[in-house]
Amino acid sequence: MDTMERRRLGRTDIVASVLGFGGSEIGYRRASGRTVARLLGGALDAGLNVIDTAECYEDSEALIGRTIGSRRREFYLFTKCGHGAGWARPDWRPARLLASIERSLRRLETDYLDLIQLHSCSLAELKRGDAIAALERARERGWARYIGYSGDGEAARFAVECGRFDTLQTSVSIADQEALELTLPPARAREMGVIAKRPLANVAWRYARRPADSYYRTYWSRLRALAYAFLRDAPDTAVATALRFTLSVPGVHTAIVGTTKPARWQQNAALLRAGALPRDEFARIRARWREVAGASWEGQV
Ligand SMILES: NC(=O)c1ccc[n+]([C@@H]2O[C@H](COP(=O)([O-])OP(=O)(O)OC[C@H]3O[C@@H](n4cnc5c(N)ncnc54)[C@H](OP(=O)(O)O)[C@@H]3O)[C@@H](O)[C@H]2O)c1
Repeated sequence: MDTMERRRLGRTDIVASVLGFGGSEIGYRRASGRTVARLLGGALDAGLNVIDTAECYEDSEALIGRTIGSRRREFYLFTKCGHGAGWARPDWRPARLLASIERSLRRLETDYLDLIQLHSCSLAELKRGDAIAALERARERGWARYIGYSGDGEAARFAVECGRFDTLQTSVSIADQEALELTLPPARAREMGVIAKRPLANVAWRYARRPADSYYRTYWSRLRALAYAFLRDAPDTAVATALRFTLSVPGVHTAIVGTTKPARWQQNAALLRAGALPRDEFARIRARWREVAGASWEGQV
């Protein structure tokens, strides 16, 4: 068994594998329990120790609880709250957030979370402070060991600067580099843990035509404009460069990749064995971004 690199998640006691499991795909794509058991069982056997999900990723929490709840001590479990009745119906009232967290514990078949995150609430909601206080209450009650913010842009910047969160989960990839200047330097200064979401830019370059699913469209358009030369490499080489870019960004501790395919974990772990991206390659991607990115190229939720 190869041991995957691990990094301490900021000032927490969590030592996270650089490759984590992003739980949205298994929920939205309705993966079967059998697939999830193979996907996560194999990943845990091979050294992955971070699983991230959310209360609104359809059945994701229940699938994770049902398939690997019995191995709870072998991984760190992160989830999110704020959309207890579905993504389209956010609700930041403290009582609702606490009820949602209790439900997450039941679904995930655990009595504690390692991290509970506010799921992309607005800057105004963060400034009001009640939602953050609800997470602090959950931590006091022992429902979660740490609290975090998951989101982007000015709200993420406020979340970093307010000093109340242990971690930031934010978009970082070859197609989403706003965080590298806006939030990651202050997050590093405060020793916050940083979880890179959408770390492969959804591999949006694989679509020959504009994707029907709006979730992929912004990255698809950006990547057409960026036209990085390495995207013309063999598919695995291009994915490797994209993932190694994300994990070479200063301050990033773990990258959570979403998939429904059990073989992906081993494949992505193998792609990372080459380590950090060489400095000149990293600098070329940054330079191209600075040259092409428009002012509207904000962090994508
Ligand atoms: N606001 C928020 O808090 C928020 C928002 C978005 C995401 N997230 C979190 O971040 C996680 C990751 O985000 P994401 O899943 O949207 O983005 P992602 O990890 O950048 O992309 C996932 C896509 O990459 C493909 N993929 C993975 N490995 C591959 C490989 N070796 N070769 C080719 N394709 C590969 C997967 O397709 P296959 O199925 O073909 O493997 C999947 O469609 C989510 O699961 C979620 O936990 C949080």
